[in-house]
Amino acid sequence: MSFKSEIEKRRTFGIISHPDAGKTTLTEKLLLFGGAIQEAGAVKSNKIKKGATSDFMEIERQRGISVATSVLAFIYRDKKINILDTPGHKDFAEDTFRTLTAVDSVIVVIDVAKGVEEQTEKLVEVCRMRNIPMIVFINKLDREGKDAFDLLDEVEQKLSLSVTPLSFPIGMGYDFKGIYNIYERNLNLFQGSSKKKVAQSIAFDDLDNPELEKLIGTNAAAELRENLELAQGVYPPFDRQAYLSGIQQPVFFGSALNNFGVRELLDCFIEIAPPPRPKKSEERLVQPSEEQMSGFVFKIHANMDPKHRDRLAFVKVVSGTFERNKPYLHVRLGKQLKFSSPNAFFAEKKEIVDASYPGDIVGLHDTGNFKIGDTLTEGEELHYKGIPSFSPEHFRYINNADPMKSKQLAKGIDQLMDEGVAQLFTLEMNGRKVIGTVGALQYEVIQYRLEHEYGARCTYENFPAHKACWVEAKDPESESYQEFLRVKQKFLARDKRGQLVFLADSAFSLQMTQQKYPDVKLHFTSEFEPQEA
Ligand code: G4P
Repeated sequence: MSFKSEIEKRRTFGIISHPDAGKTTLTEKLLLFGGAIQEAGAVKSNKIKKGATSDFMEIERQRGISVATSVLAFIYRDKKINILDTPGHKDFAEDTFRTLTAVDSVIVVIDVAKGVEEQTEKLVEVCRMRNIPMIVFINKLDREGKDAFDLLDEVEQKLSLSVTPLSFPIGMGYDFKGIYNIYERNLNLFQGSSKKKVAQSIAFDDLDNPELEKLIGTNAAAELRENLELAQGVYPPFDRQAYLSGIQQPVFFGSALNNFGVRELLDCFIEIAPPPRPKKSEERLVQPSEEQMSGFVFKIHANMDPKHRDRLAFVKVVSGTFERNKPYLHVRLGKQLKFSSPNAFFAEKKEIVDASYPGDIVGLHDTGNFKIGDTLTEGEELHYKGIPSFSPEHFRYINNADPMKSKQLAKGIDQLMDEGVAQLFTLEMNGRKVIGTVGALQYEVIQYRLEHEYGARCTYENFPAHKACWVEAKDPESESYQEFLRVKQKFLARDKRGQLVFLADSAFSLQMTQQKYPDVKLHFTSEFEPQEA
């Protein structure tokens, strides 16, 4: 197969949702359709269940599983589908943000009863800023939920999207009869009342056909006609270009658990979703079809077993063919590296591969060479953009609890930060170290891993910060900037890259600082602006 057709057949995407909306169930159903697994229940969720927050064995077990499910690949109708798993637990949202830099499109799952939830809002915002094409799947239609139009409205309002339904439910909950597929113009009805089996889809072009009454009953037929007419009046027709540009988002309704609407979603997905997209580097836009290989690390997974301290770096291939045993330039280190056993992922397995193409994810065994965001090329000095650091939500001093092990502690902190587990800030004033995280759970993970992997012990102490803002001086010589440095000295720190960060202690002080020092620009993400990905 030619290089070009290898690229054309790849669809690399992520499924995002608020926990419990049905991401895991949908993933599993997609794998079932793809023939990648034989039975439901085969894929274990990567999420850390509620209530397991301080059960380290559980975290460890889940982490083990999550390597296997980090990338789930399968072939469906000649397309190579790569699903990149995103942790659902909000304390691992940073991981999800980074994974979103490696997808070419996403599917957003929303619970029909709960509607748009907090985590969905945050994740969709990141996708929207980067114009990532999104398909919305409204799940759990077998349960009583919100009215379809109200939900479409809510999605538009809360997520600032422009939707157009490509399917429409017929009834809901107890009365859920099935779905009219607007995209394919067919009816998909449940068989009998069990809601477990899907009757064959029936091509149904003309909704005025009186057959509709016979199939779904008089009331449901009237309601469906009315709803579709209304939908047609309110929503624009589907426009693939608008979807690809991130301007329009098609919506499907269904029930992942009951296998309803999933095949329709997948069939439409492979037709409309984009093959690997070009990616911006600091230097230039790189096209997947370029012959020279380039790719970037978006995730690092450490082996928690102290006897096997290797790590797996996940590289998204952006252009060219990634070949086994070929030397590549590690741009940040300026070093040539060869990989004798690059892993590819297939269903739940990983295996050594000779060649990977744009859109693919390669797992590289790493002994400490990689940091999140690193670029590999065939010699060109490229730096891929778009691995953002967001302001953490929690801040704590980290102290050494065992003076004999300070080296181990420093090494452990350094490596965990490279993996992107949390962010490290070193205070300008006294050199003390502050760890910033998205969720409180990370502190326990760090403490546990420092002890078990590095033999170092730490304690934490509260650090009263509200937000971390990256500081940009409009004019570094100006009096107001110099005054800012002097007055706010106590709140200034350096991040791992050496950038200056202002750790504001409250929303009020943040606002006051912005007003008082107009020469200081405060950013809520590090140098990588999400919209520049
Ligand atoms: P997540 O990955 O987004 O967190 O969600 P997950 O798929 O684990 O689904 C969360 C819960 O919702 C699960 O139930 C799952 O069975 C259920 N679910 C998913 N899709 C549907 C659907 O279409 N209809 C209905 N009624 N339920 C659905 P659970 O009881 O929390 O877990 P489990 O014991 O079933 O695994």
